[in-house]
This record gives sequence, structure tokens and C-alpha cells, in this order.
Amino acid sequence: MKIAIYPGTFDPITMGHLDVAARVLKLVDKLIIAVADVDLTKPTFSCEERIGMVKSSLAEYGLDTEVDSFSGLLMDYASSRGAQMVVRGLRAMSDFEYEFQMALMNRRLAPQIEEVFLASDQRFIFLSSSLVKELASLGGDIHEFVAPSVEKVLREHFRRAE
Ligand code: PNS
Repeated sequence: MKIAIYPGTFDPITMGHLDVAARVLKLVDKLIIAVADVDLTKPTFSCEERIGMVKSSLAEYGLDTEVDSFSGLLMDYASSRGAQMVVRGLRAMSDFEYEFQMALMNRRLAPQIEEVFLASDQRFIFLSSSLVKELASLGGDIHEFVAPSVEKVLREHFRRAE
């Protein structure tokens, strides 16, 4: 059984992430979206909130994917789940250097697991979680960029923050 891990902060999950998840699902038997439970990058939303948004987005778009969280090294987690591959989405060249560096480090840590990069749909090349949050915080329309349930969570979050 081919198992892939799609890791990320997902703060919050966007249509770009969902596009990558849908593409991976065509290639593997099982996809696990792994939400990083880290404070290092100071996410806006708690791990539980991020997991909730991932789950509701997947349900809204009918994507059959397990959702989990992990802390510590990604490759330790991927090995513990019996994954053969780790998937990352690539938007523009600006993603490349960081992703390449991380992939090579990850390969040293777990050479048996392949890191696979999928080009995101061109509609989402400019999209990022931080841009969506900035737009939402300033009252911009984000409905094209996130699932309806995530739009609702962001609206409520930034209304409360006002
Ligand atoms: O969505 P992001 O923020 O680009 O995701 C980055 C993430 C969480 C996948 C990456 O930071 C990660 O794998 N963190 C876990 C720690 C780790 O294994 N780091 C890489 C080897 S040093």
C-alpha cells in the first residue's frame, strides 16, 4: 500500500493545499495530511483549530484523506506511519531553494522515503496562508482562496481581533 504524507503548518489550509492533496490522491492508496504542531513559526491558529479547518475543507471538497498532527522531525513521523513518500507543493521558483534544502536534509535523515514535489495549479501560484490572513484581516474577499468553513473561521477570528 502506497502511503504519502503531506506535511505543513496549514495556518490555515488554502485552495492551493487542497489542489495538491487532490493531485496526490490520484497517485497513492492513502494520504495523510500531517499538521505540524510547532510554536517555532508562531501560527495564528492552534493545532486543534488548524486540524479542524483541514478536516472541514476536505469534507467540503470530498477528499478522502486522513488528518493527523506531528511534532519533532517530519521524517521520524513519516517512518512511524510507514510512508514511502512525503509530498510538498511547489508554487514559484521562490519556494524552490527552501524546499530543496529541506528535501536534501530529509533524505539524509530517512533515505528510504522519497520527497515528491507537485506543481500547484497556476490559479494558486501566488496564494499563501499568510496572504489570505492579511487579506481577511483587512476585510478583503477570500472566498476564492479557502473553503467556505475556513472563510467563516477567518472572518470570525479577525472580527474578534478588531
Ligand atoms: O507549511 P510549512 O510551514 O511550509 O511546513 C513546513 C514543515 C512543517 C513541513 C517543516 O517545517 C517541517 O517538516 N517541520 C518539522 C521539523 C523537521 O523535520 N524539519 C526538517 C528537517 S531539519
